[in-house]
Amino acid sequence: MPPPSRSLLWLGLVLGAVCASREPPAPGNATDPLNVLLIIVDDLRPSLGCYGNKLIRSPNIDQLASRSLLFQNAFAQQAVCAPSRVSFLTGRRPDTTRLYDFNSYWRVHAGNFSTIPQYFKENGYVTMSVGKVFHPGISSNHSDDSPYSWSVPPYHPSSEKYENTKTCRGPDGELHANLLCPVDVVDVPEGTLPDMQSTEQAIQLLGKMKTSASPFFLAVGYHKPHIPFRYPKEFQKLYPLENVSLAPDPQVPAGLPLVAYNPWMDLRQREDVQALNLSVPYGPIPADFQRKIRQSYFACVSYLDTQVGHLLSALDDLQLASSTIVALTSDHGNEVVSN
Ligand SMILES: *[C@@H]1O[C@H](CO)[C@@H](O)[C@H](O)[C@H]1NC(C)=O
Ligand SMILES: *[C@@H]1O[C@H](CO)[C@@H](O)[C@H](O)[C@H]1NC(C)=O
Ligand SMILES: *[C@@H]1O[C@H](CO)[C@@H](O)[C@H](O)[C@H]1NC(C)=O
Ligand SMILES: *[C@@H]1O[C@H](CO)[C@@H](O)[C@H](O)[C@H]1NC(C)=O
Ligand SMILES: *[C@@H]1O[C@H](CO)[C@@H](O)[C@H](O)[C@H]1NC(C)=O
Repeated sequence: MPPPSRSLLWLGLVLGAVCASREPPAPGNATDPLNVLLIIVDDLRPSLGCYGNKLIRSPNIDQLASRSLLFQNAFAQQAVCAPSRVSFLTGRRPDTTRLYDFNSYWRVHAGNFSTIPQYFKENGYVTMSVGKVFHPGISSNHSDDSPYSWSVPPYHPSSEKYENTKTCRGPDGELHANLLCPVDVVDVPEGTLPDMQSTEQAIQLLGKMKTSASPFFLAVGYHKPHIPFRYPKEFQKLYPLENVSLAPDPQVPAGLPLVAYNPWMDLRQREDVQALNLSVPYGPIPADFQRKIRQSYFACVSYLDTQVGHLLSALDDLQLASSTIVALTSDHGNEVVSN
């Protein structure tokens, strides 16, 4: 992996893992516009085989990377979902969109800027959003920038509403809202997980677009490996705990300005983290629990990789691969996992 500096890892300002597949357009139709499949993965660091990570199993993304332009020196504009996403989707810096957290809407607070999907839409593309593409708005009604960016109403997986609910079986046999949440998919509400639903929806849309006269821009936003780490439990087996090292830099770096320290409050709210009885609110996470966090993060990356695999296989099966540009990126790295 091209090592970004450790202080950057601590600040979580990593990533921009972009693999863009560049296949030639279909023969004879060189001037036909290509479709675009934009895959956005929430909190994905370059913890991927294609970035030289020897532990991570990410065969599908690695294969995409092997026939793509792989960005080795890309950085997130901000280590928070909403500003980072709005930044790359509008092609403007967070200082321009005036979004540093989750709440303001650039069309109201900064300027009526076009987005990338909006630009495609205004140029004859059918634009579609599946899953978490824009960060959903909290205090206003600008969720997904609909209708400006999208030709059809954005899709959100119905099972996403269970992400933070008590669906993780603990050692006590009860269900908890845990950080570490390997599940039997047949046992969870609706018998599915959000990213699986998003893959199915995206494949359905691709099927519909196959016969469309217009080109398409399909954005698919996957939720994992964002916390909570709720994933099919079989992926945990890929990462036996004894094979999972601690982060190379598990301590707060000396001299880090307090403002740059992230105490991971979101993580500390989870029942299994609360059960650790951490002595001080911002106190260090015990090493064995750090290892479990990393294990589940890596498992989520592999789970996510299989979803990307299904999506890319569908593109092949539908014979859309040669007429579609595929780009895969993330909003920023996960702040609790370094490697
Ligand atoms: C693309 O190719 C098909 C089949 O060769 C042809 O019918 C169609 O007109 C072409 N489209 C353009 C825009 O040239
Ligand atoms: C913002 O731009 C869109 C088209 O890009 C336009 O439809 C809309 O009216 C504009 N809104 C304002 C407040 O100017
Ligand atoms: C936002 O949504 C709320 C609740 O659905 C509604 O009452 C309000 O009118 C909406 N505001 C705008 C500006 O659309
Ligand atoms: C765990 O590490 C051992 C020793 O390096 C290796 O033999 C084994 O294949 C690893 N297991 C997995 C699932 O990667
Ligand atoms: C945390 O505190 C509770 C209640 O005092 C206790 O039952 C539990 O064993 C403690 N957990 C740990 C990991 O020390």
